Amino acid sequence: MAEEGPDVLLKARERTLSVFREDVEQKWKGPFYFIQGADPQFGLMKAYSIGDCSSGGDEWEEEHLLTQQAVQAINRLSPRPKFFVLCGDLVHGMPGTPWRKAQTRDLKDILKGVSRDIPVVFVSGNHDLGNAPTPETIEDYCQEWGDDYFSFWVGGVFFLVLNTQLYFDASKCPELKQAQDAWLDRQLAVAEEKQCQHVVVFQHIPLFRKDPNEAHDYFNLDESIRRELLGKFHKAGVKAVFSGHYHRNGGGTHNGLDMVVSSAIGCQLGEDTHGLRVVAVTPEKITHRYYSLDEMSNHQGIEKELTALMKPN
Ligand SMILES: [Fe+2]
Repeated sequence: MAEEGPDVLLKARERTLSVFREDVEQKWKGPFYFIQGADPQFGLMKAYSIGDCSSGGDEWEEEHLLTQQAVQAINRLSPRPKFFVLCGDLVHGMPGTPWRKAQTRDLKDILKGVSRDIPVVFVSGNHDLGNAPTPETIEDYCQEWGDDYFSFWVGGVFFLVLNTQLYFDASKCPELKQAQDAWLDRQLAVAEEKQCQHVVVFQHIPLFRKDPNEAHDYFNLDESIRRELLGKFHKAGVKAVFSGHYHRNGGGTHNGLDMVVSSAIGCQLGEDTHGLRVVAVTPEKITHRYYSLDEMSNHQGIEKELTALMKPN
């Protein structure tokens, strides 16, 4: 087995990403774009194919190749995306299960290939923390990938990263949920006070899959928490929430907020393709489009469309 090299991946610490200097990044400097991906989830494709999503997943060659294709496509883009955010379920193996360590090592090896001028931003998913996380599983994630919730500024836009497992089931870590709640209220107060160009949230589980009034299920957040967050986000002027978890594209709008649900880099549970979302930020709005990995690999095609997406109007 190959020796694990030094961990060069960026980790959020002290609830922020130091690579983006707050004093510099709070100012709007013009349109930019970033790339969103979700659920590389090393191991799910095999587990799903044998009908054993809880204990299967002893191979991840397909996800390995797909994530490699994603990284190569991102590295060819010009102009450069400001960052590449991965909205959770980095690996399939839940805490304490076999293969998790090897899946994590192999994913990190691929992500180390992302150009050093494109920071990779990590969001925690249910497979990263466990469906009912504990202080230990959260600590383990933070050691491996960085803080589970944090905020950062890029070019006048305020970005918040949330740990949605604390909304899904905090029965084993109620104090950590309270801590994130208090932190989120402080961040949203900052968002209101600073009059940022836009406020954007990244999380794993969407507030809703398609309809803000849909019933709660495995793929969305409980109605009362959903209503609470939608209210808080609206008050603070959050424009868009980007998520994964559904392994299909989805989403909808509510009160001017764009709930974006992106399909997976890895296993598809619907009819979508393995892909990435390109998100353009202009002074007035945030526009985005999901591209298959094959489309992403045609960088000239993407760059042409980006020029159109980033044109101010
Ligand atoms: Fe997932």
